[in-house]
Amino acid sequence: MSYLHRALLNTLGFRSMNVHGVRRRSQRALSFTDTSSRSRPYSSGPLRAIIFEQSGDPLKVLSARSFEPLPSPGQGEAQLRMRLAPINPSDINVIQGVYPAKPRARTDMGTPNPVFIPGNEGLGEVVKLGAGVVDLKVGDRVVMGASQTGTWSNYMNIKADSLIPIGDKISDVQGATLSINPPTALLMLRHFVTLSPGEYVIQNGANSAVGQAVIQIAPKLGLKTINLVRERPDIDQLKSYLVALGAHHVLTYDELGDRSIRETINHWTGGKPIRLGLNCVSGKDTTVMARLLGNDAHLVSYGAMSKAPLSLPTSLFIFRNLTGHGFLLSKWFDQHSGHDRRSLVMELISMMEQGALKEPANEIVLLDGSDEIIQRQVHQALTNIEAGGYGKKVLLKFAGE
Ligand SMILES: NC(=O)c1ccc[n+]([C@@H]2O[C@H](COP(=O)([O-])OP(=O)(O)OC[C@H]3O[C@@H](n4cnc5c(N)ncnc54)[C@H](OP(=O)(O)O)[C@@H]3O)[C@@H](O)[C@H]2O)c1
Repeated sequence: MSYLHRALLNTLGFRSMNVHGVRRRSQRALSFTDTSSRSRPYSSGPLRAIIFEQSGDPLKVLSARSFEPLPSPGQGEAQLRMRLAPINPSDINVIQGVYPAKPRARTDMGTPNPVFIPGNEGLGEVVKLGAGVVDLKVGDRVVMGASQTGTWSNYMNIKADSLIPIGDKISDVQGATLSINPPTALLMLRHFVTLSPGEYVIQNGANSAVGQAVIQIAPKLGLKTINLVRERPDIDQLKSYLVALGAHHVLTYDELGDRSIRETINHWTGGKPIRLGLNCVSGKDTTVMARLLGNDAHLVSYGAMSKAPLSLPTSLFIFRNLTGHGFLLSKWFDQHSGHDRRSLVMELISMMEQGALKEPANEIVLLDGSDEIIQRQVHQALTNIEAGGYGKKVLLKFAGE
């Protein structure tokens, strides 16, 4: 942190910490502090978090900050040390302010203005329990059963009954990437149309984390997949990787332009219509994919990675009775009980334990050093992802105890 930057923060009343957790400024911005929670004894190292105050370009609005340690967890709460938290596309959209959900505004961190900690998914380890918590124990690995909890931090206090323990058989990466993309894949495969064993599903964005989960879960449901990805220099390597995961066929969007492709696909499906298409990217490539769907098919859109609108020929609706759907996991969560969410997660954990659902290709960014260094690390990770074709799910891990 530059001298000027630090001086500015101090002027604004931030309770800035150095990396070793020594408070640099003892005077608290009391008017911005939740004093009731502060009356409990502190219990962990300094709180370190990625935060933003205003929505906008992540490279402009995101910063890394250190704060006083969290208070001990209150009644019904657990304190987690976050072990890993992925950067998902929706986290970026949340920071940009273009996603219809936001983490809660944090007024308890001593900042002059409320701040937001992004991060919708992650794996935490219980380090301390508040009074009245009986279903968890210290050391349990847990994932979030609630949305937008702010996982891009090293510690958090959170309602214990919103957490889902994941046991000790799956990897940290599997746990940290368990609660959004695999459930999305499973629910989309299961809930829009009842497919018979052997039927094909076609999807784009097939190398995304959701797409990789679709590739692996579909065979568990007796289904086959045709998978569409973007062209790239190492396309053969990507195709081999997806086939090894369980993809039946992988094509690039460019290959869809081949005149004979419909015939080839007919040959693969034995002439049976494809009745489920999963759309991760929208734009023109999805128009082309939709033309490959058969009569009475369902096109489920869950992402718009191309940032282009979805445009579909009217004839698909009139003559082929296409049905279009949108899917939003958080809406499904809202419409279902905690029991249903846990059952869903448990079903996916069971697939992971059987080796049927592997962790996505990934890179763990160890956030270590001063706030400036961590900020740079996060900005670099976001820049890498934004460039496209990165091929790895990036997960954040704060160094520490
Ligand atoms: N609706 C829901 O409930 C729900 C739940 C989970 C996820 N999602 C959405 O699903 C999508 C994928 O999420 P994820 O975590 O699986 O993603 P991810 O692992 O980060 O992968 C991103 C994917 O998007 C592709 N992509 C990026 N920019 C693109 C572009 N301009 N044109 C075409 N493809 C592009 C990437 O392809 P390259 O490798 O070629 O760059 C990659 O396949 C996101 O939009 C996310 O918000 C929605």
